[in-house]
Order: sequence, then structure tokens, then C-alpha cells
Amino acid sequence: MKTIRDFNVQHKRVLVRCDFNVPLSAEGSAGARRPACAGREILDDFRLRQTLPTLLYLMENKAKIILMSHLGRPEGKPKEAFRMDPIQARLMEFLNVSIAKAPDCIGPEIEKWTRAMMPGEILLLENLRFHKEEEDNDESFAKELAKLGDIYINDAFSASHRAHASIVGIPKFIPACAGFLLEKELKAMSAILDNPTRPLVTLIGGAKAETKLKLINKLSEVADFVLISGLLDKAVVSEGMRMKYPQKIVAPIDEARDGKDIGPRTVDIFKDKIAKAKTIFWNGPFGKIEDEEFVFGTKEIAEAIIDSRAYSVVGGGETIEFINQFGLSEKFGFLSTGGGAMLECREHSFPLTQYYKSLRNLSR
Ligand code: 3PG
Repeated sequence: MKTIRDFNVQHKRVLVRCDFNVPLSAEGSAGARRPACAGREILDDFRLRQTLPTLLYLMENKAKIILMSHLGRPEGKPKEAFRMDPIQARLMEFLNVSIAKAPDCIGPEIEKWTRAMMPGEILLLENLRFHKEEEDNDESFAKELAKLGDIYINDAFSASHRAHASIVGIPKFIPACAGFLLEKELKAMSAILDNPTRPLVTLIGGAKAETKLKLINKLSEVADFVLISGLLDKAVVSEGMRMKYPQKIVAPIDEARDGKDIGPRTVDIFKDKIAKAKTIFWNGPFGKIEDEEFVFGTKEIAEAIIDSRAYSVVGGGETIEFINQFGLSEKFGFLSTGGGAMLECREHSFPLTQYYKSLRNLSR
């Protein structure tokens, strides 16, 4: 796989696909602290911070940096609430430079703009999903985007399970490579999925049963144990799902607080498995953690993972927020920006796999 280091980026227009899809407060509820954000406050900037090494490298190496991302799900139309202004403001704070924002993400005016940029300058494009063609993976839209750069960098691991134009389309038209974040994420996933030090214990919590059910079976092919939440266990039963390796699946045996948390006996069983692990993969909480009353089980799990000293990879928006909230982020092996992307790493349809292939072809 090619990475940024394989290219001379100096004075080149470098088109970087980031995942700046961060949680935002509702319109009008932002404090006076950041009035430039049109009334919307970024609630968690973890994904933005993780992109900084790539951006700093490009700045130091005098690239002309064109940033693009989606934000939310505006359904293919421009919507005020999903404009990139809060992202622009926060990136300027982080990088301490001025960043221009384009009114759109394609078009002759924007192409002209990119051609007039000075080395080291940064331009942020407007939300890619204001065009329906992004999610349709429309080839001419990808071509339009590709006109804005000489080199394409994918640094959006957490969006790379989407076969969208900015992920899989652009590399067909210009030389492409992986950014530092994508590279780091893929290494962490490979340490878990390709050659883990055993026992490998995976924990899948949260509620999104539709995305997670298939995954439980997939993970059981590589993991020694798959610990699942009560909600997922109920979904397995109600769907009548057949487990490939039922002996590896560990489901809660009791619950607490009206089923909104796992019970003490479950916590003990989970802790025992975690203590013996050498590698741990965790995605999703084990209780209704948005309410302080129900964080007990998830907190016990987080602490057991830390105490185990196993190499741990943790992901999923809620899980990362939870870890940050308790100031535990330094204590895990790797915190992933990916939610869905992490979960779909084993899927055959995973566009990242195709993307990999395209990178390999381009690098030949
Ligand atoms: C994510 O937050 O998981 C990615 O940014 C992808 O967003 P999506 O689920 O709206 O495609």
C-alpha cells in the first residue's frame, strides 16, 4: 500500500478525504464561546484531532491542501445544519492557521481556486453529501472531485466502509495513497484480525443489532471468545440466528436496573475472560450509558481491559466518548475513529478491501 511518504507532495495539490463527521449540538444551542460555528458546537473532536499528523506533515512539506469530508446525512441536498463551518473553525484553532472554505465541493470556480493556491495553504470543501452523487458513487462526480487534486489521500478510515465517490471513485483518476491515520487504523485492525496474540477476546455491545449480528459470527471465526450485550443476545434469539461457533459466544446471564445494564454475575464472567486475554477488541457499550445510572457494567469492562494489560483496540463513537469522559484514553492500546468501518473490516463487500486493491494497482 502506498502512503504519503511515497509521494513528493511539495507544491502539489493534495486532495485529502478526511472523516470530519463529528457529533454536533443542535442548532442554536452552542455557547457563546464559539460564535463562528453558526450556532452549532462540536461535541467530540476526536476524529479531527486524529487527522492532524497528516495535515501537519502536508503543511510542513509545502503541499497545497484541499480537504474534503461528509458531515451527517443531508440526503443529497445542501442543508444549513450540515455546513462545514464548525469544522473549519475547529481546524483553524488546532492548526493555528487560516483555512478557507469553499461554497461547494466541485465546479470550475473551485478548480480555479485550487490552482491559485500557495504551498502550505489549506482549503476546506463544502460537505460532499450535499451532492447525491457522492453516495451514489457517481463516476462523473468522482472525476469532478479528482480535478481538484494532483494526488489523492484517503485518511478517512471511519468512512472507508462506504463505497462512495470520494472513497472509491477518485483513485480511478489520480494517484492515490493512504494518510497516516488510515495507515495506523489498518495496522491496528490487522493486529486484531490477521495474526492476534491469543487468547483474542472481542466484546460487541451497543444496540445496532442489524449491523452487529452478522459480525458476531464473523468475529467468532477469528476470536477465542465473543462477549455480547444483552440487547444483541435478545436479537440473536428473536432472529433465530444460527451461531457458527456457539461455544465461543458469551452472553449476559443476568441484568441490572430494569435491563439497562448488565448484572453483577455477568460482569464477573466477562472480567474473567478479559483477564485471560492477550488481545482485546471492543466496540459498543454494555448498558444505556448515556444515563449515568447505567454505566456500572461498561465501566467495569473498561477497567478490566486496562488491568488485563492485553493489547486492546477500541472503537465506536459512544465507546470512545465514554472512555474520554472518564479520562481513560491513554490506557488503551489503540482508540479507533471507526465505528461501522471497524465492524465491517471482515465483510467481503468492505470497500476498503477494494480500495486497497486499487491502491496496489496504482502503485505497480
Ligand atoms: C461514521 O460516522 O461511521 C462515518 O462517518 C460514516 O457515516 P455514515 O454512517 O453516515 O455513512
